[in-house]
Amino acid sequence: MESDDECEYDSTWEHKYENKTPRKKVFHKWSRRNMYAARHMQDFRHILIWRRYLIMGLCSVIINVVVVVFKGRFYNLAFYCGRIKSSPDDTALPSFCNVHIDEFHQQWWGEYERLEDVHSYIQWLFPIQEPGVNWRAHLFRKDKQAKSKLVKSYKLMLDFYGLHLANESTGEVERAPNWKDHFRNLNRFVYSHNNLRITRILKCLGTLGLKHYQAPLVKFFLHETLVVGHLQSLKQSVLDYFMFAVLDKSERRELVRFAFKHFKPQEQFVWGPKKFLSGEVHSKS
Ligand SMILES: *[C@@H]1O[C@H](CO)[C@@H](O)[C@H](O)[C@H]1NC(C)=O
Repeated sequence: MESDDECEYDSTWEHKYENKTPRKKVFHKWSRRNMYAARHMQDFRHILIWRRYLIMGLCSVIINVVVVVFKGRFYNLAFYCGRIKSSPDDTALPSFCNVHIDEFHQQWWGEYERLEDVHSYIQWLFPIQEPGVNWRAHLFRKDKQAKSKLVKSYKLMLDFYGLHLANESTGEVERAPNWKDHFRNLNRFVYSHNNLRITRILKCLGTLGLKHYQAPLVKFFLHETLVVGHLQSLKQSVLDYFMFAVLDKSERRELVRFAFKHFKPQEQFVWGPKKFLSGEVHSKS
């Protein structure tokens, strides 16, 4: 049964074991939901699930051997372990090259203009999986040192956005004392590169072993945009992208419910089927 607010690109409300009959295409003539975003974020989540099965399979033994042999070649891990520096940019823009991860953490903290204007560092700090490269993430997740440096990078970016990691174990975030200036910067443009960066950061946290950090950050942004009314320029990205980067399905549902509760006008909420959100039908997770 499909109502007109269901989205073929969003499995958030599907039951895990329900029959996988191909879904009918639904045309969203009136819907303001960004279908490109829904599809993109769903692909991101599903590729990871597919990979998990692959890793769990017999191949994992072979993969592990290959990984050990070629460890040095996984440049993102090698970068985070401090074995390599970022390589020169091929652009003429102010660049991020030949930087060691620890130097970066020391020298770039609080350098807000640089963090705003330079573009290339974000790919180094928050690598995301591209199709076909799998094993790096798998290895990264096991490496405590790399992971703690990733947390450092995360804190540095939060500071740049006027946020503060309040609890390192839960991932709870709150506004930093100097949040106003930073929120003003975030709010300058509707589709700014910072929205893209935050989506990337969320994907990376999910992939590299900090999955539990995803929901608290998204919850924070939902609260700031929908409840308090700050960061209006981020609102569309929070709903279309940030929320759907969260890999844990029950957390994702909680976030969509929270968004529905605070979104005004509620009739125009297009990020989940209203029959679940209004509590008419209980979805099983
Ligand atoms: C972080 O959260 C955990 C779990 O709620 C709690 O036990 C711990 O005291 C918190 N730590 C800080 C620094 O607030």
